Amino acid sequence: PTPPAGAVSADGPVVIAHRGASAYAPENTLAAVDKAAAMGFGWVENDVQRTKDGRLVVIHDGTLERTTDVKRLFPGRAPWRVKDLTAREIARLDAGSWYGPGYAGVRVPTLRQYMRRLSHNHQNLLLEIKNPELYPGIESQTLRLLDREGWLDPGHLRNRLIVQSFSADSVRTVHRLRPGVRTAYLGTPRITELPAYARLTDQINSDRGKLSGPYVSAVHAFKGPHAKPLKVFAWTVNRADEARRLTEMGADGIITNAPDVVRKAVTAY
Ligand code: G3P
Ligand code: CA
Repeated sequence: PTPPAGAVSADGPVVIAHRGASAYAPENTLAAVDKAAAMGFGWVENDVQRTKDGRLVVIHDGTLERTTDVKRLFPGRAPWRVKDLTAREIARLDAGSWYGPGYAGVRVPTLRQYMRRLSHNHQNLLLEIKNPELYPGIESQTLRLLDREGWLDPGHLRNRLIVQSFSADSVRTVHRLRPGVRTAYLGTPRITELPAYARLTDQINSDRGKLSGPYVSAVHAFKGPHAKPLKVFAWTVNRADEARRLTEMGADGIITNAPDVVRKAVTAY
């Protein structure tokens, strides 16, 4: 399959399937990635954390009970933190049944499995380093894995990969270790803080409710470390009217659980 890049028009925002097409398949699984690909979306977002034995896995919460059957399989292991179970233990969990019976047996992917599926699907990744304070060194470990999988070659760096975090320290570390990687800070810095952010990141990925037209224009006025204007992506936007409002503000990307809804809403632009 060869999904398009995800942009709705030359000037419209790029549409990013949040945790995969997570309105239609269990979040952060290969099934959610495949669903996005089948719907024609080239960009997906995910969350990366680390197991007890040091493997990188794709999961949003710091604990496993919401999106897997961990309580049933390991009743004595409360509070079921990702960092307290081994990769082999996590690989046994069912990460699909909570979403629906049609997804029984879907697993928590390792980052390596996830990257390989994206390559197979010709998709692009907005990778979130989640809870980095729990996982010392996760930035360099993630970059090493991406490198091994071919995701730090010039073509990928130019068009196919963005690394983001709510932690400015984590974003700074990624930028310091591999300056060629495009990064995004998850948050909405004050305008007076933007010069400092522009030294370490290429974009501001903001809660949709905190954005305004003047703010987006102010961000665009700064150039990031790759000498291009800072971009603004908005999350998590699942309604057509919100997608249109953010497009009118000038948002460069919209992160959504329902990429089809957003694409339809902004196609007119
Ligand atoms: O990509 C933005 C968004 O994923 C940030 O919030 O909690 O869904 O990781 P969260
Ligand atoms: Ca995320």
